[in-house]
Amino acid sequence: MNHFSSPEHASPPSTATLSPASSVQRELQAGLLAAKAHTSPKYFYDNVGSVLFEAICELPEYYPTRTEADIFSRHLSEMAHVIGSGTTLIDMGAGNCAKAARLFPQLHPQQYVPIDISVDHLQESVKRLQQRFPHIEMTALGLDFSTPWALPDEVRPDKRLFFYPGSSIGNFDQDQALAFLRQMHAACQVTDTAGNGSVVDGGILIGVDLIKNHKLLDAAYDDALGVTAAFNLNLLRHVNRVLASDFKVSDWQHVAFFNPDQARIEMYLEARSEVTVRWPGAERHFAQGQRIHTENSYKYSIPSFLHLLEQAGFGRARYWCDPAGWFAVFYAQAF
Ligand code: AVJ
Repeated sequence: MNHFSSPEHASPPSTATLSPASSVQRELQAGLLAAKAHTSPKYFYDNVGSVLFEAICELPEYYPTRTEADIFSRHLSEMAHVIGSGTTLIDMGAGNCAKAARLFPQLHPQQYVPIDISVDHLQESVKRLQQRFPHIEMTALGLDFSTPWALPDEVRPDKRLFFYPGSSIGNFDQDQALAFLRQMHAACQVTDTAGNGSVVDGGILIGVDLIKNHKLLDAAYDDALGVTAAFNLNLLRHVNRVLASDFKVSDWQHVAFFNPDQARIEMYLEARSEVTVRWPGAERHFAQGQRIHTENSYKYSIPSFLHLLEQAGFGRARYWCDPAGWFAVFYAQAF
């Protein structure tokens, strides 16, 4: 299963080592050589890509970030009341920890566990946060969700609350999303102190982008300034560094649209003319108009997401929306 790390941070610098091919290179190459060429969205987030994503979040067309923030600021006290204090708040893809930090004043977690691929990146933010909130125990973890993960013993086993904002779950297809939710559910299982069996104690707080007017969705992923286009095209430079390939950005164009049959935004890079791309050990020819599939961003309805939560073992769900019904924040308890 692929996990696409939170966009708020840069992925570690990639260096091209040519032989033997690393598993990263092999995976990337296999995607580019597939009948329908594709790449993982994780290649968006190099240093430039991470800055471009931050710019996307400021665009008038890209409503998810600000809509989710509004939902939290309007409903945080009610959320905190429903969730209760003293949780072990586990931040899945914490980045700069800013989203979680906004919860602290009302949620009063007992422990805060920010997780991201690079723990170094987290350390700085956590240090600052610890000074602002000295009574919250903080434990930063470097974890890659693309392989099966387990939480170390420093993470309190009780009242675990998995926090997954930003509609990051949208990058997963239905099977992957279910598997990811089930992993969090499994981590809500605690062996009781007497050692006779396990108790389920925990929940999830997750932001989800909703199906809406197709024109609004299309515009959010194909903005007038071309920032999303730059974000998409920048992937080629990252790929060039990983694979030592010779993609030329100017040979490609950004394509993004909502596919209603799959309930997802699809993003592609489309060859402007016939082009052959080469890298050590392989090459790929693209006809004019041929595409590389670079991202899916799934959108949900309230019932479809409630159903997914239920399938993963999360129930008693509550959710909060913006007035227009564009985005939802769900809280559900593991059962
Ligand atoms: C980071 C996956 C939530 O799907 O909206 C934004 C990524 N891609 N614009 C999204 C993205 C193009 C974003 N997520």
